[in-house]
Amino acid sequence: MSTPGQKVAVITGASQGIGASLVDAYRKLGYAVVATSRSIAPSQDPNILTIQGDIADPATAERVAGAAIERFGRIDTLVNNAGIFIAKPFTDYTQADYDAVTGVNLTGFFRITQLAVEQMLRQGCGHVVQLTTSLVDHAMSAVTSVLASLTKGGLQSATKALAIEYASRGIRSNAVSLGIIKTPLNPEEYHKTLAALHPIGRMGEVGDIVGAVIYLENAPFVTGEILHVDGGQSAGH
Ligand SMILES: NC(=O)c1ccc[n+]([C@@H]2O[C@H](COP(=O)([O-])OP(=O)(O)OC[C@H]3O[C@@H](n4cnc5c(N)ncnc54)[C@H](OP(=O)(O)O)[C@@H]3O)[C@@H](O)[C@H]2O)c1
Repeated sequence: MSTPGQKVAVITGASQGIGASLVDAYRKLGYAVVATSRSIAPSQDPNILTIQGDIADPATAERVAGAAIERFGRIDTLVNNAGIFIAKPFTDYTQADYDAVTGVNLTGFFRITQLAVEQMLRQGCGHVVQLTTSLVDHAMSAVTSVLASLTKGGLQSATKALAIEYASRGIRSNAVSLGIIKTPLNPEEYHKTLAALHPIGRMGEVGDIVGAVIYLENAPFVTGEILHVDGGQSAGH
């Protein structure tokens, strides 16, 4: 069990990039954290439980939510951070691309969010956060990626629908819509080109995104929000 009064966050895609930094940030806030991804390593911190699994497999969601409740007794926050990105001309996408992207980005959201919300309803409070992309609101001919728009656009709509369905029952739902961020997803040789895609003229840092998630965490009157943290990308060029 968590210590009395301690909150608990479940973070998917937590082995590297934004997810790994979110684990640190929630620990700094005093949360116990259940961190999951396929390759995540065990933690020495007794307040971090790591669980390996493919989030595209609903059985992983069952194991993660079950372990959170068994070990820490509750789920206060779920951050749906696991995601993959494949940029191609639309007609070049293969069925394998489609299965991979929808598997992680959509199926990987569905069961874990159902299980977290069920627990949040028992508690009478909770917060669900999705990580999306500003390509949903502002498509760019230089980054053709219909599968990102299809899946992350679905998540953005689901973010609002969840917010409204559960607003009166203490559960908030928000999203952070990202520009292009310096993580292992974006190899360094492309950084200069990617920086130029943002009106502000630089790529985002992991800290920009973590700060936005933590803002939403501490904003009890904010729900159904798609918070763009994208250097102006969604506003125009
Ligand atoms: N970085 C950007 O520019 C950018 C832009 C827009 C949106 N985003 C979104 O922000 C989120 C985090 O991105 P990031 O840049 O931090 O990505 P990243 O560095 O590529 O990390 C992705 C994480 O997801 C996990 N993951 C991938 N496939 C998985 C699977 N099948 N099952 C479970 N876990 C899986 C990976 O861990 P394992 O390999 O151990 O499974 C890893 O921890 C994603 O949702 C991404 O779509 C990022």
